[in-house]
Amino acid sequence: MDSIRIRGGRPLSGEIPIGGAKNAALPLMAAGLLTEQRLVLSNVPRLADIKTMGALLSQHGIAVEKQDNAGRVLSLGGSITNTEAPYDIVRQMRASFLVLGPLMARVGEARVSLPGGCEIGARPVDLHIKGLEQMGARFDLQGGYIDGRVDGRLRGAKIVFPFVSVGATENLLMAASLAEGRTVLANAAREPEIGDLAVCLVAMGAQIEGIGSDTLTIEGVPALHGAEHSIIPDRIETGSYACAAAISGGSVFLRHARLEHLGATIRVMREAGVEVTEGDGGVMVRRLNGLHGADVMTEPYPGFPTDMQAQFMAMLSVAEGASMVTETIFENRFMHVPELNRMGARINVHGSSAIVRGVPSLSGAPVMASDLRASLSLILAGLAAKGETVVNRVYHLDRGYEAVEQKLAACGADIERVSR
Ligand code: UD1
Repeated sequence: MDSIRIRGGRPLSGEIPIGGAKNAALPLMAAGLLTEQRLVLSNVPRLADIKTMGALLSQHGIAVEKQDNAGRVLSLGGSITNTEAPYDIVRQMRASFLVLGPLMARVGEARVSLPGGCEIGARPVDLHIKGLEQMGARFDLQGGYIDGRVDGRLRGAKIVFPFVSVGATENLLMAASLAEGRTVLANAAREPEIGDLAVCLVAMGAQIEGIGSDTLTIEGVPALHGAEHSIIPDRIETGSYACAAAISGGSVFLRHARLEHLGATIRVMREAGVEVTEGDGGVMVRRLNGLHGADVMTEPYPGFPTDMQAQFMAMLSVAEGASMVTETIFENRFMHVPELNRMGARINVHGSSAIVRGVPSLSGAPVMASDLRASLSLILAGLAAKGETVVNRVYHLDRGYEAVEQKLAACGADIERVSR
C-alpha cells in the first residue's frame, strides 16, 4: 500500500491549481440518472470517488464516457436497466446513496444498500428515507438493503428537516425535480455544492426557487433533458492548501479558488494571522509572521466546515497560544488527534471539543491516516515538522485529493509517494 514521505521545514512558494469540487461532482453525476439524454459535466476532478460513482452509474445502465484525454469532461446518459446499488460499491463510498432519490423519481423503484457507519461516525440516512416517504414512497429493509417503491410518480410535499443534512437535501432536491406538484424543502443545507447541483438541474429543465437559501421550492416536471455544466472549484481543497501555505510559513496562489465560498474558513485563517487576498483568477495565501491560536466550531454552511477541522487542527498545533476546536457535525471526527500528538502536538479531547496548546515545533514520525481529511492534516503536520514523516494508509487521500504530492512538490515541498 502506498505511503507519503515528507521531509518538513520548507516554506511553500508558488501556485497550486484547484480542481473541481468532489462533493459537487458526486451528486451531479447521480443527477445523470434523472434524464435519458446526455448530461455533460466539465471540470470533473480525477479522484477514486469519481471512478466509484462512474462504476455505480454504469451498472445502473448509464453510459459514462470520457470526452477528453484527461477525463475532466464526462458525458453521462442512457436508460436505467438495473435499480440495485450493491453493498460492494456503497460501502466504499457513502455518497452512492445519492442514487436513491433519482432512481425513485425516474423509475419508481430502487434497491440500495444501507451505507452503515464509517470512520467519522454512525451517519444514518433516516432523513433521506423519511423525506421520500412523505413524497409517497414505501420502503422495506431486507438483508441490509432498503427496497423502495412508489405507485406512479413521487408526489410533492412539504419537508421540514429537523437538522441540516447535505446528502438528504441533495437526494430530495433531485427526487422533487421529477415529482408531481410542488415540494418545499425547509431547513435545507446551503452548501455551495447544493447550489451547483440546483443550477445544473435548472439547466436540465427543473423549476427550483430559493437556490442558495435554506428553503428550496421545486415545481416538479414530467421529464428533464440533457445539459452541459461546469463544476465549481473545490472549497475544501482550497482551504487545505491555504493551511499548507500557512503551516509551512510560505505563500501560495490558489488558482481557480473562489473566495466567496470560503467565508468562515478565511475568517479563522485571518484570525490566526494568515493573510488571504483575492487575486486575478484565484486566491493568494501568505503567512507573514507567527500563527496565533483561534477557536473553531464546525457548523453547516455558511459556518466553519467539518471537512476543514482536521487540517485546521494541524495548523493550530503550531500556533502560539491555545485554541478550542469543537466538532458539532460528526461524533468521531478526532481520529487525527493521537497521530498529531505522536508528532509532538499537545491536544486534549474532552467530548466534542479539543484543546490545542500550540507547540514551537513538531517532529516527524510514521503516522496512520484514518480518513480523507485526517490524511491531509497529517501531511500538513509533516510539512511543518522537523525530520521525516511517513503517512501510511493514503488510499483515503486518493479518494478526495488529486495529485497532492505533485501539487505540493511544485511549490518546493520535499514530498514523495512511496509505493510498495
Ligand atoms: C456531506 C459531505 C461530507 C461532509 C458533510 C457535512 C458529500 C459527498 N459529503 O456528507 O464531506 O463532511 O456533508 O458537511 O457531500 N444525518 C442523520 N440522518 C440523515 C442524514 C444525516 O442523522 O439522514 C446526520 C449525520 O450523521 C451527520 C449530520 O447529519 O451527523 C450531517 O450529515 P450530512 O450533512 O448528511 O453529511 P453527508 O451528506 O453524509
